[in-house]
Amino acid sequence: MKTKRLSDNIEKILNTQIVNEGYSSAIYRAMANCLEYNGWVGAAKLWKKYSSEEMAHYEKIISYMQDRDCMPIIPAIPQPQYKYEGIKNIVELSDKHEIDVSGQWKKIASEAMKESDLMTFELAQWFIGEQTEEEAKMIYWLDRIDMYEKTNKSLGDIDEEMEDMTQNTPPAQI
Ligand code: FEO
Repeated sequence: MKTKRLSDNIEKILNTQIVNEGYSSAIYRAMANCLEYNGWVGAAKLWKKYSSEEMAHYEKIISYMQDRDCMPIIPAIPQPQYKYEGIKNIVELSDKHEIDVSGQWKKIASEAMKESDLMTFELAQWFIGEQTEEEAKMIYWLDRIDMYEKTNKSLGDIDEEMEDMTQNTPPAQI
């Protein structure tokens, strides 16, 4: 017997968020493609990793909806931009994108709270924690690029740093 445990409103919002997470994955994959095409192999690996992490988010929402006895919709994901100006442009756009996604999850949390849907609220809280980490990664790269520019260091060297980061996470802010 089917016993759908999400309101139509929450169901609709979560289906939209599946699109948004899938779109995040597609954007980062397109960025990785552009980086690799232009010889930024280290950075490309890192953006490919970010793309996989977003795909895990996509899957997490689908699993949650199934757990709540709802049938998720497999969405059509819009085609992302595929040409970028360079590494700085990619970091800036990624940062802006993560801020947008944080806003989407805050909205989901507040809709869930309005309906006293604490299960969905908890899901949204998990994602909000994840967003803090993802914004921190982009803040880290923005700061590193700033430092490279201020010290007239070649930005090409950041490629190796980015490759190292595929094994690690950025140090916590002090
Ligand atoms: Fe899953 Fe960073 O959005």
